[in-house]
Amino acid sequence: MKKLLITGGAGFIGSHVIRLYVNKYPDYHICNLDKLTYAGNLENLKDVENKPNYTFIKGDIVDGDFIQRLFEEYQFDGVIHLAAESHVDRSISNPMEFIMTNIVGTVNLLNSAKDIWKDNFKGKLFYHVSTDEVYGSLGETGFFYEDTAYDPHSPYSASKASSDHLVRAFHDTYGLPIIISNCSNNYGPNQFPEKLIPLFINNIRHKKPLPVYGKGENVRDWLYVVDHARAIDAIYHNGPTGETFNIGGHNEWKNIDLIKVLCRVMDKKLGRTDGESEKLITYVTDRAGHDLRYAIDSSKLQRELGWVPSLQFEEGIEKTVDWYLNNQKWLDNVTSGNYQKYYNEMYGNR
Ligand code: NAD
Ligand code: DAU
Repeated sequence: MKKLLITGGAGFIGSHVIRLYVNKYPDYHICNLDKLTYAGNLENLKDVENKPNYTFIKGDIVDGDFIQRLFEEYQFDGVIHLAAESHVDRSISNPMEFIMTNIVGTVNLLNSAKDIWKDNFKGKLFYHVSTDEVYGSLGETGFFYEDTAYDPHSPYSASKASSDHLVRAFHDTYGLPIIISNCSNNYGPNQFPEKLIPLFINNIRHKKPLPVYGKGENVRDWLYVVDHARAIDAIYHNGPTGETFNIGGHNEWKNIDLIKVLCRVMDKKLGRTDGESEKLITYVTDRAGHDLRYAIDSSKLQRELGWVPSLQFEEGIEKTVDWYLNNQKWLDNVTSGNYQKYYNEMYGNR
């Protein structure tokens, strides 16, 4: 039985990757290593927690001795590394956590993988999940390609860029078999409501202001989270080692246009008059260093591995809104306690 370590599996994307792997690969043993920060939630994995091929391990990737012992005990065959501090606004107010988890944590994993596997790298793989934000910001036109030069602007994207460089350095220096993918903005069930779409769904539900940064003209390329998990699966199993793949939905939206679509869908679902939720839109001070536009060219992944997104955005956004409205207890749980403090610090005085 192959042993696979998935880090950050209690988070948004990680939980979808865990679900896919546990159900699709009964002959793999899936170990989910997660620190359970504010963003990690075992509620996300209720449907797989009792499967015989799944184990949850609570732990911090920043603790190098612990990581080394874990690799010695489990002798993993592969790693899919998703654990990270992931929210740009938090990286602006508290960069150190991002440096520790995203950079030091990644190096701890790389070091242990190298030490355990060094006598025989055959059949082993370290898969690093990264972001399109490492490429910086586009103007009105153009796309990010796999060979676009890195140009990160936030502490979050700089920490992810740094981790990508270290992953490549371990490949080039020690021969560690690695793959990196850089994905665009994900949306879907189980995303923590600090990110645009679940935050606005929750605020619309409570008739609270919708804080649009700047003029709402920034553009993001949105991909349904299950399609990201499918891409990770395709790349993990069929991508040549040492390579990078861009993942994206060719689904660009100006923030303000996406927010208006969300308002319309929510008005319909909540039985409110069309246009009611749009009145909640409130323009607030822009995010510092706010990248204007992200757009991914994912033709390499489509051409070489035959991956295409399975959902159109209209269908994906309906599914997403339905999930949050049908899982209000999940939303209420994650927005209790510390969330209020974060929310007040972020939006309270604007
Ligand atoms: P998330 O914040 O929802 O989840 C991160 C998970 O990592 C949480 O479960 C958290 O508890 C865990 N974690 C954090 N610090 C840890 C530590 N020190 N040790 C162990 N576990 C720790 O993030 P997400 O949105 O699911 O993103 C997952 C990965 O995908 C990240 O690497 C992120 O950079 C990348 N990514 C995200 C997106 C997106 O749109 N969300 C897009 C592209 C790439
Ligand atoms: O591109 C991939 C990245 O997408 C991932 O690497 C990150 O982990 C993920 O958080 C996401 O980053 P963004 O900064 O693009 O996502 P966020 O949901 O925070 O914001 C999306 C856009 O909406 C961005 O232009 C900022 C804007 N925004 C966001 C919030 C939270 C607002 O206008 N108001 C808000 O309150």
